[in-house]
Amino acid sequence: MKNGTIQLDYTNILPFIPKQEITDAVDLAKDAAAALENGTGAGNDFLGWLRLPETVTDDMLTRLTEHAQKLRSAVDAFLFIGIGGSYLGARAGFDALLPSFHNETAAANGQPRLYFAGNHLSEEYHTTLRELLRDKKICINVISKSGTTTEPAVAFRILKTLITADRTQDMIVATTDAQKGALKKVADKAGMQQYIIPDDVGGRYSVLTPVGLFPFACAGIDINALITGARAMRAKILDRPVMENPALLYALIRYLLYRDKKKSIEIMAVFEPRLAMINEWWKQLFGESEGKNGNGIFPASVSLTTDLHSMGQYIQEGKRLLFETFLITTVPTQPLEVPPDDNDTDGLNYIHGKRLCDINRAAYTATAAAHCTGNVPNMTICIPTLDAYYLGALLYMFEYACGVSAYMLGVNPFNQQGVEEYKNNMFGILEKPGYEELTKKFSGSEHTDDSNRTP
Ligand code: PA5
Repeated sequence: MKNGTIQLDYTNILPFIPKQEITDAVDLAKDAAAALENGTGAGNDFLGWLRLPETVTDDMLTRLTEHAQKLRSAVDAFLFIGIGGSYLGARAGFDALLPSFHNETAAANGQPRLYFAGNHLSEEYHTTLRELLRDKKICINVISKSGTTTEPAVAFRILKTLITADRTQDMIVATTDAQKGALKKVADKAGMQQYIIPDDVGGRYSVLTPVGLFPFACAGIDINALITGARAMRAKILDRPVMENPALLYALIRYLLYRDKKKSIEIMAVFEPRLAMINEWWKQLFGESEGKNGNGIFPASVSLTTDLHSMGQYIQEGKRLLFETFLITTVPTQPLEVPPDDNDTDGLNYIHGKRLCDINRAAYTATAAAHCTGNVPNMTICIPTLDAYYLGALLYMFEYACGVSAYMLGVNPFNQQGVEEYKNNMFGILEKPGYEELTKKFSGSEHTDDSNRTP
């Protein structure tokens, strides 16, 4: 257990929602949390993620770590194939915890490189990646709960040829359902090593299963610390009253902003590029969980200060639909100070001797105040430092907040029927057996009605 803890600072919410109003509404969050804990809410057959911090055993963590370590010493690179919840958690964790430019420096540091595939359908990306990895010693971890998702399935079919048949059993690891799905069949037939995604854990809530834990271990991330952090966050969530509870209070404030202040877009804002993929993971978690029945807060994100020079204008003065959540942390690093300059031609001597992290912190303070003045309510999630422990705590905190938030909105956080529409269309267009009606509907549609095109 660490001394520091993740905190929610809601100072810049209070000009918009007085503290008393928040306090008066705490039962909404408490009731939603009780529905999660008691399994009485919608989608209650998908609540396995809730107790993962407690149910992931030390034995499992040791097994995953030892397996990953063995592979780390045997390969030049890992290739992780997956999409959505079977991709974003691992990617977000790598970016958050590994030094910038990891792949460029990996070989010199005796570390395997880390690549992803199957998270889109770009021909150029997959061709280039295949060439890059040809003749390298690689391990593929293919991850798909359903085992039938098109993007990773296609990428796996293409890229598994990088591994010769005699190495399949050692160098391909499939993370999938215990029983169902095409990937399960392929893995069984080829005798691949396998990790199971529990039935009652949906994709975007699966980062604390082997979906995230095995890639993390392959990247050398301390998964014991990660789970310890998640465990500590769960204990805190269960122990604290709403006004002292970062997960429940975050969920409640965003709900009140949506319901009472008609703020329908939340922007997650980070000041470290290493957190940009946490934004993406968070967007999937909240977007896919809440956006249904014509309901839900649209999750957007910015990476600052970069986007202060693009989206900053809209946030400050555009349509007032927005609220903002800052994710603030310190990243362990060598100090980097602005050097003095005798001539001061660039006029920067007023900050000479200051560390870049302090200038960045000034940018955050300035931005939060400016956006508050511009009628963008904002709150800040303060993470003591960026390490595996706090990452585990943060991921779990967001998952919990998302479940609570969706229940307050009155939607089932654990289904995603809305993503089927495009998939069915695509199967029709690609002439998958069973989709003949849609095939007919779309036949010739790529070159239809020229009158609707600019000449
Ligand atoms: O959250 C979800 O359930 C989805 O985003 C899935 O993770 C995504 O569609 C990938 O699914 P699968 O793991 O079955 O390939």
